[in-house]
Amino acid sequence: MSADEISKARNNFADRNPQSRKYFDEARKFLPGGHTRTVLTHAPFPLVFVSGEASTLKDSDGHVYIDMIGDYTAGLLGHSEHRVIDAVTAVLKTNVSVGGIHPAEARLAKLMCDRFALERVRFTNSGTEANLMAITTAMQATGRSKILVFHGGYHGGILYFASGAAPWNAPYDFVIAPYNDEVETLKLIRVNASSLAAVIIEPMLGSGGCVPADPKFVDAVFSAAREVGAVIVADEVMTSRHGSCGMFNLLGVQADITTFGKYIGGGFSFGAFGGRADLMDQFDTSPEANRDKVISHAGTFNNNISSMTAGCVVLGEVFTADVAIAHTARGDEFRKSVATVLARHKLPVSVSGFGSMMCLHALTEAPRSAVDVAKRDSVLQELLFFGLLERGIYIAPRGMINLSLPLTDDQLAIVLDGLDDTLKSVADYQG
Ligand SMILES: Cc1ncc(COP(=O)(O)O)c(C=O)c1O
Repeated sequence: MSADEISKARNNFADRNPQSRKYFDEARKFLPGGHTRTVLTHAPFPLVFVSGEASTLKDSDGHVYIDMIGDYTAGLLGHSEHRVIDAVTAVLKTNVSVGGIHPAEARLAKLMCDRFALERVRFTNSGTEANLMAITTAMQATGRSKILVFHGGYHGGILYFASGAAPWNAPYDFVIAPYNDEVETLKLIRVNASSLAAVIIEPMLGSGGCVPADPKFVDAVFSAAREVGAVIVADEVMTSRHGSCGMFNLLGVQADITTFGKYIGGGFSFGAFGGRADLMDQFDTSPEANRDKVISHAGTFNNNISSMTAGCVVLGEVFTADVAIAHTARGDEFRKSVATVLARHKLPVSVSGFGSMMCLHALTEAPRSAVDVAKRDSVLQELLFFGLLERGIYIAPRGMINLSLPLTDDQLAIVLDGLDDTLKSVADYQG
């Protein structure tokens, strides 16, 4: 088996999906590349979905898939969570856009502060914006300019460090440290001690391949950042779903500012950043605060009614702390079952992750860093993706899997069988 197999897999895919191809060919005339979200694309063209129900998706050629991407963690609730849909539908009958304050805003703020141990919180439209605002908060508070980030980290389209800093990143003065490498990271924190405004860190490289942080590494980074007076920004845009209040809590640490996004908006656009009152109160414009200096934080849709209402239902009713704990345990169990399936085969395929987020890698051992992830066998990786698609299982082209709440045990069993069958079909792969 060789790279020719890729052409065969792509051709089979194209033959099976003429309507998606037709849509895509038309879309490319108006949208560069036919899309507005790069992660969704792959060769020869991505599927076009027309509907979803619970944990399944239907494409424009009529195929139904078990949705194992869960919209890159934003789709935690699946495609038809009626508690959210009903609440948003009801509120939209009273008002679509206020241009003022709406009660759901403070209600969601309270829910977030209580759940994630934040003293204050502010809303944005996306996780990217939340991180940009967290960086601003840290820079203004410290009067410093440097931001320590990690190789393989992803904090948004313009805060992208998959292989070093992307050339299109926002123009901050970044220092890039190796993830899970305590010695080198501490050196960089100390060398830049007097100019370091913030350290921004994910508890698990999410987009970077579901690579969990070593608890000892996290402890060391938090202590060193505190020693030099840098603000610790925890990016939990993906990982706040783990445990009762996020993955850093499970690692026993609390950041100065935490950023959020994805599933909390219940499918609507969402972002938030919050944490220590002394940092967040830089945004306090009230006469009582009587501050000489305030940071102005604009954003027409920051408090949009749909996202605020949906967020209240998500945190208050659907994804309560107990549900979150159970979902994390379910994810851990499923990942173990995936590893058991992989162990039946002699192929260099491994699984990494934590709780309900995981990633399949065409690598013998699960990666510990972005350097490891970059060594994946790209041909085998793509064969896995197409093999699963053919069997009605939709995972991310890069191997990511995020369990949604409505996935049934039967569906998870089908996915394990589909994975086993896919691995059998590529058993002769030589690399
Ligand atoms: C860890 C992390 N931070 C930030 C973001 C950016 O969020 P958004 O896509 O809502 O801008 C993402 C998105 O995937 C993410 O995974």
